[in-house]
Amino acid sequence: MNRKFLVTAALPYSNGRLHVGHVAGAYLPADIFARYLRSNGDDVRFICGSDDNGVAIEISSRKENTTPAELSARYNARQSADFDGLGIRFDIFGGTHQPAFVETHNRISQDFFKTIHANGHFVKRTTDQLYDAQAAKFLPDRYVSGRCYHKLPNGLPCNNPTALGDQCEQCGNSIDALKLIDPVSTITGSRPETRTTTHWYLQLDKFQGMLADWFSLTSLDWRPIVTNFSLGSIKSGLPERAMTRDLTWGVPVPLDDPDAAGKVLYVWFDAPIGYVSFTAELCKQRDGDPEKYKDWWQNPDCKIVHFIGEDNIVFHALIWPAMLMGTQFSAEEMQKRGSIYTGPKGAGHFQLPYNVVANAFLNIRFPGKEEEKISKSRGTAVWIEDYLRSFDPDPLRYYLTINAPEAQRTSWSFDDFVERNNSELIATLGNFVNRWQKIVTDDFARKVPAATNPETLETDLLAKIHKLPVEVAADLEAARFKAGLGRIMEAFRECNRYIDTRAPWTSRKTDMARTATTIHTCIQAVRTLGVLLEPFLPFAAEKIRASLNVTQNAWTWPRATEPLPDGHSLGPIPEVLFKKLDPKDFALTGQQ
Ligand code: 2FM
Ligand code: ZN
Repeated sequence: MNRKFLVTAALPYSNGRLHVGHVAGAYLPADIFARYLRSNGDDVRFICGSDDNGVAIEISSRKENTTPAELSARYNARQSADFDGLGIRFDIFGGTHQPAFVETHNRISQDFFKTIHANGHFVKRTTDQLYDAQAAKFLPDRYVSGRCYHKLPNGLPCNNPTALGDQCEQCGNSIDALKLIDPVSTITGSRPETRTTTHWYLQLDKFQGMLADWFSLTSLDWRPIVTNFSLGSIKSGLPERAMTRDLTWGVPVPLDDPDAAGKVLYVWFDAPIGYVSFTAELCKQRDGDPEKYKDWWQNPDCKIVHFIGEDNIVFHALIWPAMLMGTQFSAEEMQKRGSIYTGPKGAGHFQLPYNVVANAFLNIRFPGKEEEKISKSRGTAVWIEDYLRSFDPDPLRYYLTINAPEAQRTSWSFDDFVERNNSELIATLGNFVNRWQKIVTDDFARKVPAATNPETLETDLLAKIHKLPVEVAADLEAARFKAGLGRIMEAFRECNRYIDTRAPWTSRKTDMARTATTIHTCIQAVRTLGVLLEPFLPFAAEKIRASLNVTQNAWTWPRATEPLPDGHSLGPIPEVLFKKLDPKDFALTGQQ
């Protein structure tokens, strides 16, 4: 029976362009996973779209002298083009405030809020907050700066004049914006005043017990970067969090309460619901019924896998699961069961993630410089738009997978990128696919020759390669993308050693039977390896498929070891798979 998977990649904020760090963090591994599942014959939907709501988008639009709607539509389109260019193939790319999505998104987000509210998980509180009268806005913490009020370990005041309302970069302490000395709004530069406001707080502390149980039931084979962070946070206690904001750009708070007027849901409340509302839109397109999203989200047989960057762990592994539990259980019910969790309620209820796969951040290393963080403001990034103007997608996909920040930070280094393109993609992979092409054309009229005298060299090589679909599948199912690709590359190295030993360019002068066996073996090896490459390097894999003249139907994971029959007509000699690069090719990208 086909398995059902719902795969999501973190929704990018629609107020900026995408760079290699974004791609390495969530989108590329998610695409590899979804492509593998499709190839395997699983029933998969791969969901993404832009995160359009919230104060960051609103402030960016103000800076660009435009509206949030215009800004988010523009970046949504640019990001979508970036993804297309990289071969990141979502089943749908929505947007939480894009015209075609906003109605469904608001409805489903509001239903979530109302259910969690009715289940008794919010507490309404009135508190003081900083208010920018000039902008007519309550200020989120990071839009206030002022003098730090903390003491340094030596007892002297920190006094950093530009501490932000959430954290001081100088002493590292977290900041209570209301305590900053001489606070300034970073939106208008004016001095904010203190006003009271009312919000709805999700009582995350009440979910600690159930979240801990859920982790013990579910997360055994999750990445340590996710489980360590999450279990650590549960241990130190989850503070309640306001799930509403004083803002107009977002999903209106759906409560019949005068205090809710003019307020919207916190962007981190509605963003993950974007995964659900985009699935509904996809179901409308594919099945004619948006309500079919429940077949994915409320179906215990569907595995939901979220791909994210490390800064999103708290939201996907703690707050989002708490929200989902909050739709399943009332506060009273939770209290009765002593906060013990033994599994989700069945069909008809929102199911919790099967896995949350996070990557660490990607740093960057410019030639002759130290490794540093990718930063938009310092201009230390490689933007996807710039990259795609000059280069092919597969080398980037290769480099960001073989060098993926799966367990800890890695860095994008221009020299290393070029070196790996030239020595691994060209000299190892591309070379093996090409080395026997002339012989099969000249001596065998591009038909698979029969292997009349295979020896252990041949049978061992093919036996090893035929084990790969199972081995690489195990890697991919466990989110070990780097290891899976590494295994395939090792097989290409072995294939090169094999052809070196057999040297068909020499044997063809004296021994056609031997040469036929060698070429047959090379073709069968590439037939299997090409299928396995598809999730990682879809553009090169497609060229290989066409050159082998294999139908799409036969180009699948389960059929990867099916040999091409003797006499099978190959397609044309493949186009160049990878172009040679030079470090100076990068003069145009990077620091700008
Ligand atoms: O960190 C970010 O870029 C967020 N926009 C990710 C949102 S993921 C999801 F919850 F929508
Ligand atoms: Zn400080």
